[in-house]
Amino acid sequence: MIVAIDGPAGSGKGTIASILSKKLNLVNIDTGATYRCVALKALRNNLKVEDKDEIIKLSNNIDIKFDLNNNVYLDGENVTKEIRSKEVTSIVSPISSIIEVRKNMVDLQRRLGNSNNVVMEGRDITTVVFPNADYKFYLDATLEERVNRRYKEYQEKNIDMSYDEIYENIKARDYNDSHKEVGSLTRTDDQVYIDSTNLTIDEVVEKFIEVIK
Ligand code: DC
Repeated sequence: MIVAIDGPAGSGKGTIASILSKKLNLVNIDTGATYRCVALKALRNNLKVEDKDEIIKLSNNIDIKFDLNNNVYLDGENVTKEIRSKEVTSIVSPISSIIEVRKNMVDLQRRLGNSNNVVMEGRDITTVVFPNADYKFYLDATLEERVNRRYKEYQEKNIDMSYDEIYENIKARDYNDSHKEVGSLTRTDDQVYIDSTNLTIDEVVEKFIEVIK
């Protein structure tokens, strides 16, 4: 079974996917984490977003794994926290626009989805990665609400980003993520659209379960 969820940064995809994975016994695949791993590896190799060829090369030979507790491993190292850093967050969107990087990550995501029952969240899961998924959702919330949520989350996790930095980053990523040549965040008629702006986490989960049942 494949449950696919797309939506903008901060819409709650990660939280909802994690809860659904436990309730429905699915493996949770955070596809944004795969692009974040490429961004982290690029930073560690002192590459800039402009060094496209080098970044592509690096994405050809990258080992990314997930465990059942939502940990992410890059070349064997647990990088779950590091991929959420300010530095990674500020370059991940342009890196995810590189078509060859996307091809490598989509191949990896398909392999993971084809060998497990999964809930997979990202930007192009319902449209490109698994357009024939059993259930397809678009999870949304207003920009202000998404920034508030991310700010709260980062404070709890001790990630050093101010409210204004988060606002600017999410706004820029919204634009970039929905204007990509390939794999753009898009709304389609066959997604179930859920606006979580005024809903609690439990209420959102209930809506997903209603559809899946
Ligand atoms: O979900 P996230 O914020 O961790 O994702 C990080 C970036 O990766 C996001 O700005 C866009 C990109 N991304 C993508 O292009 N396609 C996906 N399926 C998931 C994420």
